[in-house]
Amino acid sequence: MKAMPLKPLLALALSAPLLWLAWLIVVDVQSPGAGLGPDAGETLVHYLGEWSIRCLLFAFAISPFRHWTGMSVWIRSRRMVGLFAFAYVCLHILSYVAWYLGFQLSALLEDLVERPYITMGMLAFVCLLPMAVTSTHAWRRRLRHNWQRLHRLIYLALAAGLIHLWWLTRDGFAELVIYTLCFGVLCADRFWRRRQTMAAQATNA
Ligand code: HEM
Repeated sequence: MKAMPLKPLLALALSAPLLWLAWLIVVDVQSPGAGLGPDAGETLVHYLGEWSIRCLLFAFAISPFRHWTGMSVWIRSRRMVGLFAFAYVCLHILSYVAWYLGFQLSALLEDLVERPYITMGMLAFVCLLPMAVTSTHAWRRRLRHNWQRLHRLIYLALAAGLIHLWWLTRDGFAELVIYTLCFGVLCADRFWRRRQTMAAQATNA
């Protein structure tokens, strides 16, 4: 099948929340409270957090999408989607460190110890970091089979990200239930597919 311009379309779609946020900031600068609401910091942290989890789940869904649609073009976009997700997580953390903590490292260490949801969020970030660093072709070649092993950290990153969310959410659980169900379905699909591959290998051996 002729490659469709999926990658630029995805890049545009994944940039749209950032462009919208930039617009809200401009509105807020002109008329405080009109763009980001009465608590600009909280809006930023929550907005970027929401897009972090959505992009992470999307990145995790790329390989099932390839199987479901039969279009390999998805795989060529996987690295870009993953890097977008990582960028959203970094901006989410940056907005929290800036607005909630006023860039105080000691306050961050305190939160890491005293607030389990922050510890979980950080665990998710620590899992994503080596994945982002080794996402290039050069690293893939260098690490060979270990590359795939390393990139299984996505399971832990998503699980920790979701626990982070369950821990901090006080009301409005509907979206959280949907995110968790998506994660469950995508995990089930991957495990089922791996079992099928292993069964096929055993038959051919
Ligand atoms: C993969 C990693 C992460 C994901 C997917 C994620 C996702 C989210 C989401 C969706 C929210 C908004 C919840 C809501 O609207 O009710 C949120 C809030 C928050 N996150 Fe994260 N987060 C992650 C990592 C982190 C890290 C590493 C930190 C801090 C070091 C952090 C700090 C916070 C804080 C402070 C809030 C707001 C809590 C509140 O206002 O009560 N997050 N996160």
